[in-house]
Amino acid sequence: MKRHETPYHDLFDPDHDERLTALPTERGFLVAADVRSARPLLRAQDSLDELELLAKTAGIQVVGRAVQNMQRVDPATYIGSGKVREVQEQVVQLAADVVIFDDELAPNHQRELEKIFGESVKVIDRSALILDIFAQHARTREGALQVELAQYEYRLPRLTRQWTHLARQAGGGSGRSGNGGVGLRGPGETQLEADRREIDRRIAKLKQEIETVRAHRSRHRAQRSRQGMPTVALVGYTNAGKSTLINALTGAKVYAADQLFATLDPTTRRLTLNGGKTVLISDTVGFIQKLPTTLIAAFRATLEEVSEADMIIHVVDAAHPQAAAQIETVEDTLAEIDVPRMPRILALNKLDKLPEGVPPLRGDSRYTAIVPISAQTGEGVPLLVSEIERVLREAMLEIKMFIPHQRGDLLALIREQGMLDHEQPTLEGTHIRAHVPPRLAALLAEDKV
Ligand code: GTP
Repeated sequence: MKRHETPYHDLFDPDHDERLTALPTERGFLVAADVRSARPLLRAQDSLDELELLAKTAGIQVVGRAVQNMQRVDPATYIGSGKVREVQEQVVQLAADVVIFDDELAPNHQRELEKIFGESVKVIDRSALILDIFAQHARTREGALQVELAQYEYRLPRLTRQWTHLARQAGGGSGRSGNGGVGLRGPGETQLEADRREIDRRIAKLKQEIETVRAHRSRHRAQRSRQGMPTVALVGYTNAGKSTLINALTGAKVYAADQLFATLDPTTRRLTLNGGKTVLISDTVGFIQKLPTTLIAAFRATLEEVSEADMIIHVVDAAHPQAAAQIETVEDTLAEIDVPRMPRILALNKLDKLPEGVPPLRGDSRYTAIVPISAQTGEGVPLLVSEIERVLREAMLEIKMFIPHQRGDLLALIREQGMLDHEQPTLEGTHIRAHVPPRLAALLAEDKV
């Protein structure tokens, strides 16, 4: 059984892990507002389909859904008050115990809706749900800390009376920042203020811890880049098939599941190209539309791995009805985290689910190559490997040089960072023809290596 079985677990309840195992499946009711002026990437119904998948991933059974078409959101209750009453009736009828809104609710909306739905029904939004799934799936310490930080930052403006036990509690559970709340409350201070102060304190502590873990990781990364192996970053919408592809490419055993955000922490593997060249390939967290802003901020550093890569493979589930919108969401998120321009290949995955073949996406100048594949059956994967090799080579410079025997280190360096095309040994050394990154070509030309 998974460690967490419900979403929106009470962050501040040290006993929640024990309680969860005893809880029955929660019954969720989904609500979306189709706001005419908002121009979302997905239509409300499609977005609700995705929300339903998110709910299932979090272990919630969806028992009903409602959409309201509206000009603009209601300042008090997000959807109109009449629609709230309607939803309330259905929630009672269907015995739902959680109402999930498809958009991030403003703190005042959240408070008002909580008041209306009462104590027995929880009100959460897409962001809280995604944050919870991330919390369930974080496997490394850095991932767990980042998600916890994002959760606190999301909670802070939404604190209501229901959190008033916070300052009396010790922390606890995995990745939590520990105690410190006991006895914080000063005379005359309201409980809510004490809670806010406690969260602020925990946020500061988490940021410190993340800094320490991050410094460690960047030392590793620096070592890797000193080795200079070309790096390929896999990105894509959640469930596009990134983990399956990394497994198909490298024979690795990365967890792949028909679940949203099955992999959260970046994994890096070695990939050997056709010419024998080894490159590093790393899998990153999946993207989704309406990703909570606190989460993007928290994962910015992890996603820096993408910025430092030599090329990107953008994997898309080409069989998904919303494939085009998913491509745009991923590209928008990459722009948001300021990924610099670098060669990109679009891998149109799940070809096996498209008997008619993948619709051609010609003329999309963002991609150096577009390759249809099936990560599951392996179809098209060899072509993808050739394209990776071609694209990496195109970003390098061709050099011809003679390397004397005593400079075997140079030969090793060229092999590691570049691609050795031809070598001809002589009595004194080796004549070579190779492709190397521009930086290495300059160093070799100036004899500075
Ligand atoms: P996140 O962890 O959510 O980011 O997902 P991911 O992009 O790593 O996707 P993953 O590899 O976990 O695959 C998601 C689901 O799609 C799994 O059930 C896979 O078996 C399935 N899948 C992946 N590639 C293919 C494919 O080429 N064809 C088919 N039919 N299914 C695939």
